[in-house]
Amino acid sequence: MKNLPVPRPFLKWAGGKTQLVPALLEHMPPRFNAYFEPFVGSGALFFCLRRQGRLSQAHLSDTNAELAGAYAALAADVEQVIAHLAGYPHSPEFFYALRAQDPWTLDPARRAARLIYLNKTGYNGLYRVNRRGQFNVPFGRYKNPPILDPENLRCVSQALQGVEISHAPFESVLEWARPGDWVYFDPPYAPLSATASFTAYQAHGFSAADQARLRDACLELTRRGVQLTLSNSDTPLIRELYTRPAFTLHPVLARRAINSNAARRGPVSELIINNAPAR
Ligand SMILES: C[S@@+](CC[C@H](N)C(=O)[O-])C[C@H]1O[C@@H](n2cnc3c(N)ncnc32)[C@H](O)[C@@H]1O
Repeated sequence: MKNLPVPRPFLKWAGGKTQLVPALLEHMPPRFNAYFEPFVGSGALFFCLRRQGRLSQAHLSDTNAELAGAYAALAADVEQVIAHLAGYPHSPEFFYALRAQDPWTLDPARRAARLIYLNKTGYNGLYRVNRRGQFNVPFGRYKNPPILDPENLRCVSQALQGVEISHAPFESVLEWARPGDWVYFDPPYAPLSATASFTAYQAHGFSAADQARLRDACLELTRRGVQLTLSNSDTPLIRELYTRPAFTLHPVLARRAINSNAARRGPVSELIINNAPAR
């Protein structure tokens, strides 16, 4: 099938799955009803499936309220988001003034434009907030960042028509998914060097206990006949949680972002995990 250049993810997102998409497509179920992506982030797999016309019903969710709000705003009124972004200059002064605004005092289109602008112009496209929930990533010093790509935003908006979008924790999928549906879970990855104790270790706000709760949700979905695919790092913790016969593990090699630590450069093994749902 011909891959059209758009829609593409409209944000840079930590753990973005663009690289892993071909392997995920290889391991997706041949048939499914509704599609759920409860850790949507920048939605690389969703946009690819949409582009290929493989989705009928879709439900995207994430615990990042600004992110879920940006999807909803693009679906509802992409022209407003574009109009705001078109007026935003690339300068540290403007960046810091926009960053200082409380996003929850803004209307949804302005809040989405603010998130996109800060994502494109902030250091490394990071999303990080302080204890009070204030975005605190510094200005990125890019020469000419792609702040506004109206063609892609319009395609994104079109791809989101009819899609349900929720600000919700991953467990909500237990209420929504029915037998025959397909869920793709892409949680914050378990850390590669988990030297700390099982429950205390936290990476990206997602602890080993959260990984275990996610596995329990996967077992429950399996019992109910829901198909699922999960990506995670290839670590002892993940291999301990997802075992046969309920799950099948497919190791894949992924490129790792350049790391200052030479030992951490080069390809790294990740796991694509499928279940064998009850029928
Ligand atoms: C690895 S990223 C997903 C990357 C995504 N697949 C992509 O291509 O960009 C993980 C996402 O999970 C969200 N998240 C973290 N904890 C969560 C939870 N308990 N329930 C739902 N989403 C959560 C984060 O906000 C983040 O957007």
